Amino acid sequence: MDPRRNPYSPGAGSPPPELAGRDELIERAAIALDRIRTGRAARSLILYGLRGVGKTVLLNRIAQDAEARGIATVRIEAPEQRSLPALLAPPLRTALIKLSRIEAAKSGAHRAMRALASFASVLKVKYHDIEIGLDVKPEKGLADSGDLDTDLSQLLAAAGEAARERRTALVLFIDELQYVPEEQLAALIMALHSANQAQLPITMVAAGLPQVLGQAGRAKSYAERLFEFVSIDQLDRNAAKSALSVPARKEHVAFEDSAIKTILDQTNCYPYFLQEWGKHSWNVAKASPITATDAKRATSEALDELDTSFFRVRFDRLTPTEKRYMRAMAALGPGPHRSGDIADQLGKKVTSVAPIRNGLIAKGMLYSPAHGDTAFTVPLFDGFMKRIMPEG
Ligand SMILES: Nc1ncnc2c1ncn2[C@@H]1O[C@H](COP(=O)(O)OP(=O)(O)OP(=O)(O)O)[C@@H](O)[C@H]1O
Ligand SMILES: [Mg+2]
Repeated sequence: MDPRRNPYSPGAGSPPPELAGRDELIERAAIALDRIRTGRAARSLILYGLRGVGKTVLLNRIAQDAEARGIATVRIEAPEQRSLPALLAPPLRTALIKLSRIEAAKSGAHRAMRALASFASVLKVKYHDIEIGLDVKPEKGLADSGDLDTDLSQLLAAAGEAARERRTALVLFIDELQYVPEEQLAALIMALHSANQAQLPITMVAAGLPQVLGQAGRAKSYAERLFEFVSIDQLDRNAAKSALSVPARKEHVAFEDSAIKTILDQTNCYPYFLQEWGKHSWNVAKASPITATDAKRATSEALDELDTSFFRVRFDRLTPTEKRYMRAMAALGPGPHRSGDIADQLGKKVTSVAPIRNGLIAKGMLYSPAHGDTAFTVPLFDGFMKRIMPEG
């Protein structure tokens, strides 16, 4: 059918034509943020899950809805190897400028801006990657000790006060939270915790790979009191069906039930894969309805495409030793696997392969769902490893 009218949108962070199965969570987040805005107790959300389950689009949707309700937002995506202060300072400055446009909020927002000026100029010594132009003078004694824990607390308190004056909340939206170095994450959680105790309307909504659970827990044991950790996973079969059929229906195209069944079975209802299969099914089908035969052809096209993109970019980041480790895991099936079994498969001792495993966790390729267990962070990666390294 006409590829110009193809509604599906596979891609990192691409908003889906139908954000299926997440209404309850979107509402829960909205309630928490609105409560925090009025100084009431609520736990904000940290979304965690595998690659391609829809964390980013959900986070963006929660942020957009919050903005539409007048909440001030600071949006950050943490790449590997950038410091949190460097990532935080520029968008926080933009948010404070917006808050300061409202006359009544001027003093608080300006004070927060001076706190930010101190914060950035002092921490530049430690975090060389801070780049920010500031047109206000730092305030002496405010967020300028050079110690991240203290300065971040004072900065976020000042920003929280600015938001309160404006009768709104300031919310940090942080994606890929697992890449924030642990001591900086600890400082952030501590700063939010003290702001929370002062009932200031400032919080964070974050998303990341499953390893954020452990990282946040280790960072500060009271993270659990500030945040609800929500697992984002495959869609249930009904939601997955909507993700496929609703966008098609808007274009007056239907799926046969058997086509839907084929796609749900092949994709395991993982959102990213649903978009890929939807796109290819549409493109191979001659006319509505899309049949099981179309869905089967789409399977081979979708896998070809994933193998040269989604899976491939991740594979290319691996060293030869890491590839062998991942291939040994794949031989054992989708997982999770006991670390001992993977070592056996490689014919090595657990202790001798532990550094490889740790490196793969740091790269975000693997995570440990339970002590001694190891799993892929990318769904269906075991099948890909077998296709790309058939010899093992
Ligand atoms: N609820 C949903 N219904 C339908 N499609 C969805 C849904 N959530 C996400 N998608 C689609 O899945 C794909 C991946 O979404 P997204 O980039 O948000 O995943 P992610 O969890 O952030 O992945 P990563 O860990 O790689 O960053 C996108 O193409 C998006 O359109
Ligand atoms: Mg993402």
